[in-house]
Amino acid sequence: MTWVRDLKKRIKYYDETSVKPPSLFLEQALRYANGTTAIDLGCGSGSDTKEMARQGFKVIAVDINKEVANYFSKKDRDRIKLVIQPVEDFKFVRCDFIYAKSSLVFLSPKKFRKVAMEIKKSLKPGGVFAARLWGKKDSDNKSRKNYKYTFLGIEELKAIFDGYDFLAVNEHEEDKACADGRDKHWHFLDVIIKKTQEV
Ligand SMILES: C[S@@+](CC[C@H](N)C(=O)[O-])C[C@H]1O[C@@H](n2cnc3c(N)ncnc32)[C@H](O)[C@@H]1O
Repeated sequence: MTWVRDLKKRIKYYDETSVKPPSLFLEQALRYANGTTAIDLGCGSGSDTKEMARQGFKVIAVDINKEVANYFSKKDRDRIKLVIQPVEDFKFVRCDFIYAKSSLVFLSPKKFRKVAMEIKKSLKPGGVFAARLWGKKDSDNKSRKNYKYTFLGIEELKAIFDGYDFLAVNEHEEDKACADGRDKHWHFLDVIIKKTQEV
């Protein structure tokens, strides 16, 4: 199971998000990010990916769903390399900035840990990882246990990223519908983490 199974619902979500402005979370993260190379994990229709490119990054954008390719023009591809692949199989390269907004939750805890290790290796010293993860109070944590998503507490995350500098941690909750049409309670955990040294 990965994210929204129904193709029509996926396309509707991508159509809607493709015309949205870049997210405030990305704006915040970019204030901390330096360098020229970035990876966007679970890029979706790419509104945030394109903003990273606009701000000077060469971006590798990874997504498991092939239809996201329809949202990147030939011109976008000058600065964005799109890789259609599960993030857990992606071959990470050294880079300055890694971004993952509401995508790593869809990994099992085991795969999440594997990808987190790759992120740690991939970041250059001084590099920044910004992620919107989902917290334990998210209603999917109860109702979707069988799908083996990853819901995290901040202490768990700090243990995984031991030795890293947590520049920003912001939790918020809200009730609204999700991409597959269900009403749900969201618990977001936004983190911006810096690799200060090779650990
Ligand atoms: C909620 S959307 C977020 C998209 C984008 N980051 C944004 O904020 O608009 C989640 C995205 O993660 C992708 N995704 C889910 N599981 C994935 C996996 N294992 N590997 C790569 N992409 C994945 C989905 O295809 C989808 O495009």
